[in-house]
Amino acid sequence: MSFTPSSRHELLSLEQVSKGLSGGRLAIFESLRKRSSKGGLPCYLVGGPVRDLLLGLPLRDLDVAVEGDATALAADLAQELGGKLTTHRRFGTATVKLAGKLAGDHVDLVTARKEVYSRPGALPKVSPGSIIDDLARRDFSINAVALPLSPAQTAVVDPHGGVDDIERCIVRALHEDSFIDDPTRMLRAVRYEQRLGFRLEDSTVADLRQALASGAVATVSGDRWRHELDRVLDEAHPSDVLVRAVELGILAALHSGLTRSDAVTHISASPNASPNIYLAGLVYPLTPVQGEELIGRLRLPKQRAKLVRDTVCLRESQRKLKESVATASKLVASLDGADHDAVRAMAILADDRQVRQGLDWYIAELRKVVPQLTGDDLLAMGVPQGAGVGEILGRLLDARLDGLVETVSDERTMVGEWIANGQTVG
Ligand code: CTP
Repeated sequence: MSFTPSSRHELLSLEQVSKGLSGGRLAIFESLRKRSSKGGLPCYLVGGPVRDLLLGLPLRDLDVAVEGDATALAADLAQELGGKLTTHRRFGTATVKLAGKLAGDHVDLVTARKEVYSRPGALPKVSPGSIIDDLARRDFSINAVALPLSPAQTAVVDPHGGVDDIERCIVRALHEDSFIDDPTRMLRAVRYEQRLGFRLEDSTVADLRQALASGAVATVSGDRWRHELDRVLDEAHPSDVLVRAVELGILAALHSGLTRSDAVTHISASPNASPNIYLAGLVYPLTPVQGEELIGRLRLPKQRAKLVRDTVCLRESQRKLKESVATASKLVASLDGADHDAVRAMAILADDRQVRQGLDWYIAELRKVVPQLTGDDLLAMGVPQGAGVGEILGRLLDARLDGLVETVSDERTMVGEWIANGQTVG
């Protein structure tokens, strides 16, 4: 990641920032600049966007802190630009999603605040504060930076040495209890480290290890961990983050079975790996009981829970899969109802080459095969209504998969023979 002092000044002039924006983001930025100037509410671009501007990276989100009522400002902004307003009064946060011609862009606004953690892992108690208070509550120095949107001042507000750390490519927690206050920051730390090509500062690693040893991970709800894990899986290179999180023991603290990352590394070498496939790689070494425990711990939604269950189950049934790969109908039967991403992960990870090839065959062709005759066709041919119709369709599918029928008339002949021989169930 490149960073030069000469580019720092240029990048953080508001005119330069403005030039890099377009559409809805530009409209939001310019409106906030106007509102922030001449005795208006002081607004700051804060955290991630400032960090990314300093690094010369494209802005991912517009995050704005306001010394004043962010929800009221957001309501005004939504009215001015036309957008949908969502507010969380308890936290003094608001999001404006633009609508109409500017649809697609949004801004997150927060009332600058102080935070107090009543107990480790709990959500903090918040009260309004200054931008300096707001930066002090943040996770890492690289995120504790703000850019005032008032034209009079353009210097970055940097009370914690964030600009230097960005320059030195270092992720440093603001204080030694940061991971105790909010253990999800452990995953955030490795996410930034790996995404930006930075390094965790030594004392931050020591704080993280100490928080791990103290059992801090258990103080956070499954919903919050799931949310943070989802953010890892949505990264451009989730494997780097997962490998590092396993190495540091963060994931093992979440579930004792998450101690290996070889499957995740293996998946990263394959093109088009999606977040689901990475999750399958992460849970690949688990036993079915461990899989259920993880599903419960993270309160995984139905589809993701099925992905975990089916991945673990497929890994355990590799011998059965090997016996079925030679016959298309048997292979399809052994994968019946399996989560598609679990099958795709297995096609990358299975120990046996023939199994991997069989699964590729299934993904590319077999899963799309259907008989040409329909249930109505079978009834018209004299098959009695009832369970037998489904059974015959299943037999026809097997015959088609195994190359015993090719055309619709082959199918008719086959069904005709079954009817004649009394091989249909009434
Ligand atoms: N934050 C924090 N502790 C957390 C979550 C967030 O201190 N557990 C702070 C960080 O300062 C962060 C800001 O809240 O910069 C906004 O959070 P988020 O949107 O998650 O961070 P970004 O840095 O914008 O993340 P990204 O670059 O991934 O968009």
